Amino acid sequence: MTDGSGGGLALMGGEPVLPSLAPVTWPRTTAEDRAAVAAVLDSNLFVSDRTGGRTAVEELERSWAEFLGVRRCVGVSNGTTALELALIAHGIGPGDEVVVPALTFVATAMAVTHVGATPVYADIDPVTFTVTAAGVAAVITERTKAVIPVHLHGLSADIAAITETALRHGCVVIEDAAQAQGAVYRGTPCGASGNTATFSLQMTKNLPTCGEGGLVVTDDDRIADSIVQLRQFGEDIRPDRPRRYVSHRLGFNAKLNNVQAAYTSSQLTRFAEYHAARRDNVAAFLTRLRDLDGLVCPSEPDGYEHAWHILRFVVDLERLLPGVPTDRARTLLMRALRAEGLPATRYQVMVLPEQPALRSLCRQERGSWPVAQDVVDRSFTIQQRHLPPDAGPLLQSFADVVEKVWAHAAALSRSAEGVTA
Ligand SMILES: Cc1ncc(COP(=O)(O)O)c(C=O)c1O
Repeated sequence: MTDGSGGGLALMGGEPVLPSLAPVTWPRTTAEDRAAVAAVLDSNLFVSDRTGGRTAVEELERSWAEFLGVRRCVGVSNGTTALELALIAHGIGPGDEVVVPALTFVATAMAVTHVGATPVYADIDPVTFTVTAAGVAAVITERTKAVIPVHLHGLSADIAAITETALRHGCVVIEDAAQAQGAVYRGTPCGASGNTATFSLQMTKNLPTCGEGGLVVTDDDRIADSIVQLRQFGEDIRPDRPRRYVSHRLGFNAKLNNVQAAYTSSQLTRFAEYHAARRDNVAAFLTRLRDLDGLVCPSEPDGYEHAWHILRFVVDLERLLPGVPTDRARTLLMRALRAEGLPATRYQVMVLPEQPALRSLCRQERGSWPVAQDVVDRSFTIQQRHLPPDAGPLLQSFADVVEKVWAHAAALSRSAEGVTA
């Protein structure tokens, strides 16, 4: 490929690599998934307000606990609620501070505010995009009661070091593993480190449901029992007696339903196979891109197994498009990639404490998260909805796109005049 007039780029009227922007193809629903959902419809057992061991929710709880090797799993309505109920079960509430990453999905911090506590933001590592023990330690105060590391994009945070630091400061750790089903940290599946951990089953996740859902896992029976009570209006539901309608505490209606649990259980039977295929596809994709000048590919530290939920690429925009202001360069690059058919997105357009909904609650100084800010400014992502198990050929086309855009970078630079971010 040559860098000529620039006419080669689809953005400038050239032939795109892919005929159109790659479509969303996740989740994959099979005949088995449909049959599992139909069985629930036929059973008339829709909600998880009863126990007895045989509802689809209980089956999913058992099989996810077994998959991870943890004592207990509790199904809830979504991953945000999972965090909220985990925080309440651990006694976190008004007046407490909770450390969260400066770069994550907004729900991590919102869950903290919903229980009346205050999120405090730790900067992230520039390579793993997760918080580090040192980053957490830097923002812990005497009011900090919990730390929520996020296994962002499907890569575990350094959970042993973070847990050690948190415990030394008297804080509990609740792991936000919403994006990390299948990830492994030093031989231990993400979520099975001994801390309470939460998962999202929202349909874009590696282990999806047909809508919204969440799971909390823990080895602590008291925490699991507390969440079971909290998800059901604070009631105690027992299989050996009729429902009493007595609320022992202020709870929620935060149950997972059996249709969604059955769909996820069916997906779980193919999960290991999908995970392995995704890992092969992504490895082959990244091998193609690793040597491109000014492109930093996502990586997998030794001893970690990435679940590749989201691929984040950090670009040295100054090097790729010299002289073009950062915001304009990023906009131009993403337009060029998308015009060729690669659905590049900005996953998080600002650091979390800058979100309008959270800004007024943050007492830390603006600009306290330079690494997270730099990553937000200079990166683009490819999300799970484009990484299904058979995406190998599609990812090879994405590699063609990136190579083409890089080869035409000078023409792209020249076209920057007049482009607004
Ligand atoms: C890191 C993180 N935490 C929490 C959540 C919230 O999960 P849910 O959408 O199921 O409420 C998400 C969802 O995308 C997430 O990515």
